[in-house]
Parts: sequence; structure tokens; C-alpha cells
Amino acid sequence: MAIAAQFHRIARPDRREITCFIDGAPVAAFEGDTVLTAVLTQRRDLRRFEFSSATRSGFCLMGACQDCWVWTAEGARLRACSTLAADGLRIVTGLKAQDDGGQADV
Ligand code: FES
Repeated sequence: MAIAAQFHRIARPDRREITCFIDGAPVAAFEGDTVLTAVLTQRRDLRRFEFSSATRSGFCLMGACQDCWVWTAEGARLRACSTLAADGLRIVTGLKAQDDGGQADV
């Protein structure tokens, strides 16, 4: 059984579709989506918790709790809930790396 996405769009936005890359996989999003929205409309979890094997998916969704840290392919850290997705943006969450036992594709 496939793992359901955490977020579900209830309407198709009237915004330009963009493609970003999450752990190397192309993901369709819309201009104005946050990185968190782009990820969680595709999968259940955002990232792995630093202190256990648990997964995290953001908490406050407004830039306060710091539960949504992810990285750009260049290594810059950003909050997924307060960063807009951009066409061609490459995000590394760490989930794929740990699931595959190796380095994430970026
Ligand atoms: S979800 Fe709380 S800072 Fe992003």
C-alpha cells in the first residue's frame, strides 16, 4: 500500500506550475507554494528527526518551531514552512539517504 501524502489540495490553484526536486525526484508544485507544501503534497513526512529515527512533518507552519529544517543541494539550511518553492529548486531532506542507507540524490 502506498503511503498517502500529508497534505491534499482541495482545488487546483490558478498559479503557474513549477518543478522542484526533493531528494533528487522531480515534484510538481505551484508558484506561491512553500517548500513544505511541495513536499507534503507528495509524501507523508518531511524529514528525519535529529535525535531518533522518527520522522517530522513540521509543526507550527509559521516559522517559529524549527521543526521543518531541510537543506538546499548546495548545503544551505532553510525552513520549509517559510520558504517558497521555486522552479528547479533542489531540496535535500535526509529521508531518502537514511532509507537507502546512502547519500541522497540531489
Ligand atoms: S513548521 Fe515550525 S518553523 Fe516550520
